[in-house]
Amino acid sequence: MASFSLVSLFTLFLCCCRLIQAQQPYAGRRTIDCMNPDTSNSVLGYTCNGLGTSCRGYVVFRSQPLFNNVTSIANLLSSDPSQIADINEVPRTATFRTNQMVIVPINCSCSGDHYQRNATYTIRSGDTYFFIANNTFQALSTCQAIQNQQPDIQPTKLIMGSMITVPVRCACPTRNQTDVGINYLLSYPIAQGDTVAGISEMFGADTERTLEANQLRDPAIFFFTSLLVPLQDSPSKITVPPPPPPPLLPSPTTPPPSGGSSKTWIYILVGILGGAALLLVVSIVIFFNKRKKKPDMIVNVTSENFEACNEKPLEKKLVDESQDLLDSMSSIAQSLNLKVYKFEELQVATDNFSPDYQIKG
Ligand SMILES: *[C@@H]1O[C@H](CO)[C@@H](O)[C@H](O)[C@H]1NC(C)=O
Ligand SMILES: *[C@@H]1O[C@H](CO)[C@@H](O)[C@H](O)[C@H]1NC(C)=O
Ligand SMILES: *[C@@H]1O[C@H](CO)[C@@H](O)[C@H](O)[C@H]1NC(C)=O
Ligand SMILES: *[C@@H]1O[C@H](CO)[C@@H](O)[C@H](O)[C@H]1NC(C)=O
Ligand SMILES: *[C@@H]1O[C@H](CO)[C@@H](O)[C@H](O)[C@H]1NC(C)=O
Repeated sequence: MASFSLVSLFTLFLCCCRLIQAQQPYAGRRTIDCMNPDTSNSVLGYTCNGLGTSCRGYVVFRSQPLFNNVTSIANLLSSDPSQIADINEVPRTATFRTNQMVIVPINCSCSGDHYQRNATYTIRSGDTYFFIANNTFQALSTCQAIQNQQPDIQPTKLIMGSMITVPVRCACPTRNQTDVGINYLLSYPIAQGDTVAGISEMFGADTERTLEANQLRDPAIFFFTSLLVPLQDSPSKITVPPPPPPPLLPSPTTPPPSGGSSKTWIYILVGILGGAALLLVVSIVIFFNKRKKKPDMIVNVTSENFEACNEKPLEKKLVDESQDLLDSMSSIAQSLNLKVYKFEELQVATDNFSPDYQIKG
C-alpha cells in the first residue's frame, strides 16, 4: 500500500514537472536587453527539457543580399546545403530572391542547459552581438546567448575577422508534445505583420499548440523575435507569397501599441480617399463622354436626310458609346478591385482587425 501511494505520488510529481516544463517560454522583447541575461525565460536558448538530447530541428531564414544562396545560408547556420536544396526544391547552386523564406534543417542538441546549433561566425566590421543576433541571424539567436557562449570575450571589444560561436535557437519536442503527435519544432523569425495564427497556418500547425509551445497566454508577439512552431511532419517548401509590407506602420524599433484605433483610423482614411478618387475618375469619364457625344448629336439632328437616315447607325453609335463608358467603368473597377482585394486580405488576415491579431507593444 505504502509503496503504491509512493509510486502514484512520484507519478503525480513527474506529471506536474512535465506540465511546468512542457513548453518553452517566449522570450519576447527581452532579447533586446543585451545586458540582462534573465534566465527565467528563453533569452539564452530553449531549455533542454525534451525527450531527446538531440534531434532534427528547423529554422526559417529570410534570404538577404549577403546570404542569398544555398551555400551561404548553409554556412551561416551550420546546416547541410544538399538538405536545404532538397527541402526548398531548388538546385544546390540556387540563389533566392531577397526576403524569400528558406527552410533550413539543423542538427539541434543540448549544450549545457540549452538546445542549440553551434554556428561559427566570423566578425565583420561594425558588428555587435546585437547586430549579429538581430540583423544577421534574424533573431534566430540573441545577444545574451552569444555573450553567454563566449564568456572570455568582451562584447565591446570584438575583433574583425575573429571567429565566435553563435548558438542558433532550436528545441526538441517534449513528451507532452510527442504525445499529441508533434515531431519537430521550427524556429520562426517573426516579421512585421505576422500573427500566431498566420504563422501556424503557414506550416499547417494548430494555433493553440503554437501558443502552448511558446507558453503564450495571449497571442501578442513582437517582430524580430523568434517563435517555435510545433510540426507533425517535416516542413516542405514555403509556397505562400511574402505578405506585402503593410503601409504606414511605425518603425521596427517601436512595435505598435496594443490599441487597434490607430489602424482602424488609417483604414477609414484610405477608404474615404479611395471613394473620393473613384468619384473624381467617374465624373471625368462622364464629362469626356458627354463632350464626345455632343457633336455627334448635332450632326444627327441637323442632318437633312434625318428621315431617310436609318435608325440603326444611331442606335449602334449609342451602343458603342455606352460600351465605351462601360469599358472605362470596368477598368476603374478593376483598378479599384485591386485595392478592395488587399483590404479584404488584410481583413481576413487580421480576423476583421481584431485587436487580438495585432503585434502588441
Ligand atoms: C553565394 O553567396 C556568397 C556570398 O554572397 C558568394 O560568395 C558565393 O559566390 C555565392 N555562391 C553561389 C553558388 O552563388
Ligand atoms: C546532422 O548530422 C548528421 C551526422 O553528423 C549529418 O550527416 C547531417 O548532414 C546533419 N544534418 C544537418 C541538417 O546539418
Ligand atoms: C557548442 O559550442 C560550445 C563551446 O562554444 C561547446 O561547449 C558545446 O559543446 C557545443 N555544442 C555542440 C552541440 O556542439
Ligand atoms: C533588427 O533587424 C531588422 C532587420 O532584420 C531591422 O530592420 C531592425 O531595425 C533591427 N532592430 C533593431 C532594434 O535594430
Ligand atoms: C500538455 O500541456 C498542455 C498545456 O499546458 C496541458 O493542457 C496538457 O494536459 C499537457 N499534456 C500532458 C500529456 O501532459
